[in-house]
This record gives sequence, structure tokens and C-alpha cells, in this order.
Amino acid sequence: MRIDVVTIFPEYLEPLNVSLVGKARARGLLDVRLHDLRNWTHDRHNTVDDTPYGGGPGMVMKPEPWGEALDEIAASGADGSGEGRPVIVVPTPSGRPFTQRLAEELATRPWLVFTPARYEGIDRRVVEEYAERYEVWEVSIGDYVLAGGEAPVLVMVEAVARLLPGVLGNAESHRDDSFATGAMANLLEGPVYTKPPRWRGRDVPDVLLSGHHGRVERWRRDQAIARTAANRPDLLRSCDPATLDRHDRAMLAALGWHQGPDGRFGPPGETVEE
Ligand SMILES: C[S@@+](CC[C@H](N)C(=O)[O-])C[C@H]1O[C@@H](n2cnc3c(N)ncnc32)[C@H](O)[C@@H]1O
Repeated sequence: MRIDVVTIFPEYLEPLNVSLVGKARARGLLDVRLHDLRNWTHDRHNTVDDTPYGGGPGMVMKPEPWGEALDEIAASGADGSGEGRPVIVVPTPSGRPFTQRLAEELATRPWLVFTPARYEGIDRRVVEEYAERYEVWEVSIGDYVLAGGEAPVLVMVEAVARLLPGVLGNAESHRDDSFATGAMANLLEGPVYTKPPRWRGRDVPDVLLSGHHGRVERWRRDQAIARTAANRPDLLRSCDPATLDRHDRAMLAALGWHQGPDGRFGPPGETVEE
């Protein structure tokens, strides 16, 4: 996969040289190219921002440098031959939420261009312009406002990179992760343990030492359900009941959850309209 990032702070992206993403780059699984937006400015001060039309506090990123940068990068083509089109990912608090599903979708694309902004964001016409020729995804990493889009890019690149074939040692290891498509789609992963079996008087649950694969799987699933019920009841509430087996339902019932008229499960205390 190729990833381009256009930013006024390329040095902010240095963590992309480290750990899993750094190794994926070193092994040629990921081709990350960082670009300084100011290289596409033409004035003495390398200006990238200006005052907002309509007034108000803060500055807005000018469209011209972004336009020149994106034209040049996108025209190069995925492999430098001019062929291929990138998906342009625009980090913004007003975008759609970044989820594991979005990460999985982005991981199937060969080429992503990220446009982390600063100030009050980028002049709207840039998104409009490129949405006519490319897929443009406006994405938020959460309901809070950061000073810039570089940290969101680090978050998104890492979430996507670990899904690429060959990046994780064990190709199966993200299958059991929280939110992973499949059995875990609406669940958080339960607790994990390693050696020693007893630490400060605390024992690893017996079942994990039993060697009984079926019982271990069931215990893990029960723990996932219990943890999701406690920390993210919204996920369980939106869960398709068809994905819950007899044991899942028994576990939910034991936690006081009940099935509403639409078949979906709700937490204890939530009124069910009959
Ligand atoms: C100070 S923020 C601009 C916030 C904007 N005025 C608003 O209220 O939506 C500057 C930049 O940081 C990035 N950013 C901040 N919070 C973000 C979030 N939750 N998700 C993705 N990007 C974010 C975006 O690139 C954004 O344009």
C-alpha cells in the first residue's frame, strides 16, 4: 500500500518510522511518503492560511497550496506511472466516525492520501474540487477537537497498516480483536493473561489453564459480552440478535439484559415497550 501525507508538520509523523508501521515500511509492505505543504507555496513567508470569510476567530487553510499539492501527488499515479487513483482521506471532527469497519475498508485500497489540517481546517472548495475526481473521505477519530490532523493520521495509518497482509506476525491475530468483522463485530475483547499463573496472590482463571479449547473459547466470548455490556452497552444494543447464539443469550440474561419487541437486547433498567 502507498500512503502520502501532506502536512505543514512532516516531523510530527516521525512515529511512522517506529514499531509495526516502521517495520512494515522497512519490509516494503508500506510505502509512506511525507510532503511539506509549504513546498507548494510561492510567497516569501510560505503562507498556508488566511482570515475566514464571514469573520470570526481563527484562520483557514488556503485552497491554492492544497490544490497544487494534491494535483501533483495524485497525478503521479500509484507507482509513478500516472496510473491509479488514490482515496483522499481528510481528517476533520465533522467527518464520519473512524471505526474498525472504515479501517478494514481503507486497508483494501492500494493508495491513500491524507490531508491533516491545522487552524480551523481547509477551505471547503478543496474537498468539493477533489470529490469530483476522486473518492474523498472526511473522517473523524472521535468527538473532540485536536489542534491538528497529524495525530489522527497516526491513528488511522496504524489501524490500517496492522490489517495489511504480512504486517502482523500471525495473520489471524486481528480476527479476535475488539470490533473485528465477524464474531467480534459488536464486541470488546475480554481480559488477557500470561505467565506466571499466580502474581501477587492473583490467579489466572482456571479455565485458561485447562487446555480445553472449547471451554476457553466459550469463556472468552462470555468475558467479551460482559465487558461490552459494562463499558459499551450501545454496541450490544445495536447488535443483530441473529449473531448471538444460545449461550450468548444466556450470558446476557444472567447480566440482566432482556430482549425487546424488535428482537434486540437492552440493558437492565431500560424500559421495553411491548
Ligand atoms: C482545530 S481543528 C479544526 C476544528 C474545526 N474548527 C471544527 O470545529 O470542526 C484543526 C484540524 O485538526 C484536525 N482534527 C481535529 N480534531 C479532529 C478529530 N476529532 N478527528 C479528525 N481530525 C481532527 C483536522 O484536520 C482539523 O481540520
